[in-house]
Amino acid sequence: MNVVIAAATGADLPIVLNLLQRCKLPQAGLEKHLATTLVAREGIRIVGSAALELYGRAALLRSVAVEPSSRGLGLGEQLTNAALDLARSRGVRAIYLLTDSASVFFLRFGFHRVLRTDVDPAVQGSVEFTDACPQSALAMRADLA
Ligand SMILES: CC(C)(COP(=O)(O)OP(=O)(O)OC[C@H]1O[C@@H](n2cnc3c(N)ncnc32)[C@H](O)[C@@H]1OP(=O)(O)O)[C@@H](O)C(=O)NCCC(=O)NCCS
Repeated sequence: MNVVIAAATGADLPIVLNLLQRCKLPQAGLEKHLATTLVAREGIRIVGSAALELYGRAALLRSVAVEPSSRGLGLGEQLTNAALDLARSRGVRAIYLLTDSASVFFLRFGFHRVLRTDVDPAVQGSVEFTDACPQSALAMRADLA
């Protein structure tokens, strides 16, 4: 499989939103963060995504998704590492996420569980925290060097 991780374009947005819908992940607000959205391209196909919402020195990692038929090949790990590199390059020191089912997956990137009340206030104000993710979703944080 020849997959390239690259910045998303405006034309990619509906395809990524469709992927998120099929993966049962929130779509709300992604359009505002297209400049910091990454996609995994296999030829002309988009097979994965990962996005950052930047809030100064803090950020929210969201929309980490891989096409079901392309899972288990390392793409989720590549997308997450690329998003963390992007966050570091933007001066982010603390990165957060919410997840229902993939908390174990994110442990390998240095994320650990935190209370929602301990999340950076700007990130707590994001649509994922206020509206889009269920209250049952776990909050996690990683500190970036
Ligand atoms: C989570 C997800 C992105 C992983 O994508 P993937 O391409 O299959 O992951 P990778 O192939 O890079 O897996 C890397 C490792 O993580 C493990 N892993 C994958 N998904 C996992 C999960 N949900 N929980 C725990 N471990 C997981 C793999 O077994 C693999 O382990 P190994 O290196 O020991 O073999 C994908 O399952 C997905 O799109 N899930 C639905 C959306 C979602 O829940 N996203 C996270 C919230 S934003």
